[in-house]
Amino acid sequence: MKEKLKGIVESAVAQISESDGMDRLNEIRVSFLGKKGELTSVLKSMKEVAPEERPLVGQLVNDARAEIEALLEGKKAAFAKKLREEQIRKETIDVTLPAKKPMMGRPHPNTIALEEIENIFIGMGYEVVEGPDVEYDYYNFEALNIPANHPAKDEQDTFYVNSNIVLRTQTSPTQVREMEKGKLPIRMIAPGRVFRSDEVDATHSPSFHQVEGLVIDKNITLADLKGTLAEFAKALFGEETKVKFRPHHFPFTEPSAEMDVSCFKCGGKGCRFCKGSGWIEILGCGMVHPHVLEMSGIDPEEYTGFAFGVGLERVALLKYEIDDMRLLYENDVRFLKQF
Ligand code: DAH
Repeated sequence: MKEKLKGIVESAVAQISESDGMDRLNEIRVSFLGKKGELTSVLKSMKEVAPEERPLVGQLVNDARAEIEALLEGKKAAFAKKLREEQIRKETIDVTLPAKKPMMGRPHPNTIALEEIENIFIGMGYEVVEGPDVEYDYYNFEALNIPANHPAKDEQDTFYVNSNIVLRTQTSPTQVREMEKGKLPIRMIAPGRVFRSDEVDATHSPSFHQVEGLVIDKNITLADLKGTLAEFAKALFGEETKVKFRPHHFPFTEPSAEMDVSCFKCGGKGCRFCKGSGWIEILGCGMVHPHVLEMSGIDPEEYTGFAFGVGLERVALLKYEIDDMRLLYENDVRFLKQF
């Protein structure tokens, strides 16, 4: 019996050491330790053993079982370790490989120009506000002293939604909305999209952007307007920039002017950029018309103010020396990634 057990253990040792995987190990386990396994059959033949020898034989069988089990467990652990190592090797990442460069978005030239303008005015204590793109005829025209049949209405070819709602042709209606709130003084800029039924070309688009400005307080004079806008021009185009105000007409300001800046390309000598004049037109401005103040509920005897309107695309085109406005809207990545 002892010999038989020794034979069984030896055969198990051999088979286990030659086994090539978990499946084979399971087969071996069943063939030795299973219900019909070799060791189990030894136990079943116990009745043939003399009663006084049974405890000893039982002990031997248990020892053999423990030995085979330990061997199986040991082999199983070895297989698991090998598998884990293989998996780790397969999943290893070479951190020294060069990374794939993702395509990064970046701010549009309009956005860069707007942020710059906003920062200049925020630095002077202005608030940034917004008004609706779809606007009442009243706010876009009438409250700005542009009555029905006024030629200015034709100058800004208007998209009508219905007889009293338009796509705003200018950001100036934000002035009225701000004044109507009744909170004085006012120091605000209002950037936004505007619409005019213009044909697309190098300098026109049916949709573009303006930045409106409005200051209302006691004792605001033309000197405040000039000083503020001269500072703005210097901050935007450089400390050496000079400004020039030319008389103009806007229905909602009196007096009105257009402001030119000295050409930052040639310093005012005259070049291709400023078409030889040395000056570049940059914005419209003026002292808020008393009638406009009155219509919005502000007493023109007590309060005065100035306003201005800058074309955002115009600033972006000038600053980045872009010679065709269409480039700003075509979303060509080759163009956009230069900024
Ligand atoms: N709204 C004018 C336009 O679109 C620009 C403008 C001129 C705005 C003078 C102003 C201003 O606030 O004072 O042509």
